[in-house]
Amino acid sequence: MARILTGIQSTGTPHLGNLLGAIIPAIELSKDVRNESLFFIADLHSFTTIRDSKVLKENTYATAAAWLAFGFDTDKNLFYRQSDVTEVCELTWYLNCFAQFNRLQLAHSFKDKLGRTTDINTGLFTYPVLMAADILLYDSNVVPVGKDQVQHLEITRDIASRLNHVFPNTLVLPELKVDERVMLVPGTDGQKMSKSYNNVIDIFLSDKKLRKQIMSIKTDSTPIEEPKESARCNVFKLYKLLASDVQSDELKIKYANGNYGYGDAKQELFELICDKYKSERAKFNHLMQNKKTLDFELAKGAEKAKIIARSVLNRVRMNIGY
Ligand code: TRP
Repeated sequence: MARILTGIQSTGTPHLGNLLGAIIPAIELSKDVRNESLFFIADLHSFTTIRDSKVLKENTYATAAAWLAFGFDTDKNLFYRQSDVTEVCELTWYLNCFAQFNRLQLAHSFKDKLGRTTDINTGLFTYPVLMAADILLYDSNVVPVGKDQVQHLEITRDIASRLNHVFPNTLVLPELKVDERVMLVPGTDGQKMSKSYNNVIDIFLSDKKLRKQIMSIKTDSTPIEEPKESARCNVFKLYKLLASDVQSDELKIKYANGNYGYGDAKQELFELICDKYKSERAKFNHLMQNKKTLDFELAKGAEKAKIIARSVLNRVRMNIGY
């Protein structure tokens, strides 16, 4: 049985790009009976940049509601809020004492932040150490990550081996599993869908607002009567990611025949999303109006997580001399 662990950034309501690129595939993987998945909302990491307590809280709820709406099984797996398992902060300290200053200074994500924000706090600098603690606190075997997180995983393994070198058999070294398939989900402007580009489609919005977002997808100025090239159209690209092959072929023909406007295609995309994600959208809204259910689910996860965390932390404390 492998223990798979993933941290989820909580930067707001997950958008269609997050859902198709990360959430849905991770939930699929978690269904494998041979694995146990630990998914947590990395809200301590969010504190490096979010200074509004309400936003911090709401982001966590919205993230949790999305995962649960898409069917993550919290009985088989563990789903928790990072900040609920404070043991992670203690382990972070021990790891800090093995993390190499020079190495952290060279981390891409930190160097990137140096150029972009004025608030260079130490939390940003030690971000990879907290991440190492997230992973090592649960004796995780596999950590599936995107390419942007590879360096963080290497730092985790480096810190763990340094500590193990002095205190043998203390930490379990995780394997990284790099997800090579980068699913390209275009945003409303055709660039990669991302909150920072302001081009997202948020399927959890009301029908009216969702429709408005879809209607804002950029298209070219080919007149209605003329044939259109589906392969180059953002509306079609999104439709294709969500529709069946038969549906996509039908839409392709409409594009090719002409007398079919981009507005018509957008309407079809809107209807497809509403239809395909009917139950998930309803469940999300239900959960967001019943935060107690979310609190209950997250508390249940934290309880289970703490059992593992405490036993690993005990082992660490004992080995290093506390
Ligand atoms: N840093 C990760 C990201 O930006 C989120 C994260 C925090 C994480 N802790 C983790 C991922 C532990 C994997 C394992 O996406």
